[in-house]
Amino acid sequence: MDNIIIRGGTPLSGSVEASGAKNAALPLLAASILVEGPVVYHRIPHLKDITTMMTLISYQGAEVAFDDRSCIHIDATSADKPEAPYELVKTMRASALVLGPLLARFGTAKVSLPGGCAIGARPIDMHLKGLEAMGATINVEHGYVEANAPKGLKGATIVFDQVTVTGTENLMMAAVLADGETVLENAAREPEVVNLAASLRDLGAVIEGDGSNRIVIRGVSSINSGAMTAIPDRIEVATYLAAAMITGGDITVTQSDAKALKAFLARAADAGVTVETGKDWIRCKADQRLKPVNIHTQPHPGFPTDLQAQFMAMMCIADGACTISETIFENRFMHVQELVRMGADIQLDGHTAIVKGVAKLSGAPVMATDLRASASLVLAGLAAEGETKISRVYHIDRGYERIEEKLMKLGANIKRQSASEHQITGNIPLYA
Ligand code: EPZ
Repeated sequence: MDNIIIRGGTPLSGSVEASGAKNAALPLLAASILVEGPVVYHRIPHLKDITTMMTLISYQGAEVAFDDRSCIHIDATSADKPEAPYELVKTMRASALVLGPLLARFGTAKVSLPGGCAIGARPIDMHLKGLEAMGATINVEHGYVEANAPKGLKGATIVFDQVTVTGTENLMMAAVLADGETVLENAAREPEVVNLAASLRDLGAVIEGDGSNRIVIRGVSSINSGAMTAIPDRIEVATYLAAAMITGGDITVTQSDAKALKAFLARAADAGVTVETGKDWIRCKADQRLKPVNIHTQPHPGFPTDLQAQFMAMMCIADGACTISETIFENRFMHVQELVRMGADIQLDGHTAIVKGVAKLSGAPVMATDLRASASLVLAGLAAEGETKISRVYHIDRGYERIEEKLMKLGANIKRQSASEHQITGNIPLYA
């Protein structure tokens, strides 16, 4: 397992380009299963999760290929295996996003239960309840979901108990080919949901209300071939802007969309950061110590849970104390103990962290536990005095394309150390 080594203390500055959004690309790729024909994909990031999704769709019998401009071509005409095996789903929980499309296209699907992850149990009960409301029979046993709708899915009104991003996406895709109208109430409003709806509309789906909490889908008999483009990765964008804020630097992220980051940018301004935005760029300049800002994660357009760990890293060196409440996932404070190892002053009280700003963090060996926690450790390392060694960086590679390359371009002293370089091997004599 690789490490990332950072020597902190340098204010980062310059410009970096955002990649396509992982959390937009995954449902877009799953949607290819709905189409009996080619779909060309643009701006799909080169990440492990994307490769896993492509492998899964190929396993189902679709033709999947890259071209020389890193566009992805998928043609699911020949797909004939409506399954998602545990071996693939266990490495990427978002594989559950193929359930709705498989059921809509084939009338049957066998998908491994995704299981939990570091940040929480993350069940898919609302996905399954929605499919049942659409007429599917659902059987869960031996770790698999077996869904059947031999006469096809029927439109239904589905009211989500709580906002679910991939639940909204899964049922939207299922509804595209259903018989009749489906209404999703208390639907997710994330930009990635809007990206999926707009892309499906381009292929002939009839969808309205995306971006609001009530989405209406009128089923059609089929949708056409075409092209889909992922929106910029707003979480990656905000992570690089946070690198400017935590190091007292000045960074512009191009190919980005400020409208998708209103809550984050408002809290950055509250922290005393100069925020400038343009049509497709955002600039953050931090020329004073950050002010403490209270954060309360919520579904979009509230403050994103995927930016909670990164903002906490910033608040560790703010000029005062603040509270950070995590309302979406039950265990998304795994980064706290690692930040404390770097000298942060953080007390946990249930789902709330009380962060008291310290003058400086100090570099230390720390361990990544999940994707966004690892981003917060990189940010802390960029600001800390001395060397920070982050282990288990495979977590970060799941969501950040070429992170050390992009940070080096901004002036960071950062490098990747391969597993063989850092293993401590002792010659322990055999006990005589
Ligand atoms: C999506 O996960 C994102 N992943 C997550 O990003 C993100 O943190 C999350 O939405 C919230 O914004 C992708 O889009 C691939 P949810 P998702 O369903 O859809 C509970 C990252 O770092 N719930 O909106 O799985 C659930 O446990 C990842 O990029 C149920 O109880 O999240 C959670 O507490 C992490 N039953 C809450 O709802 C269900 O059937 C919100 O989860 C579904 C969800």
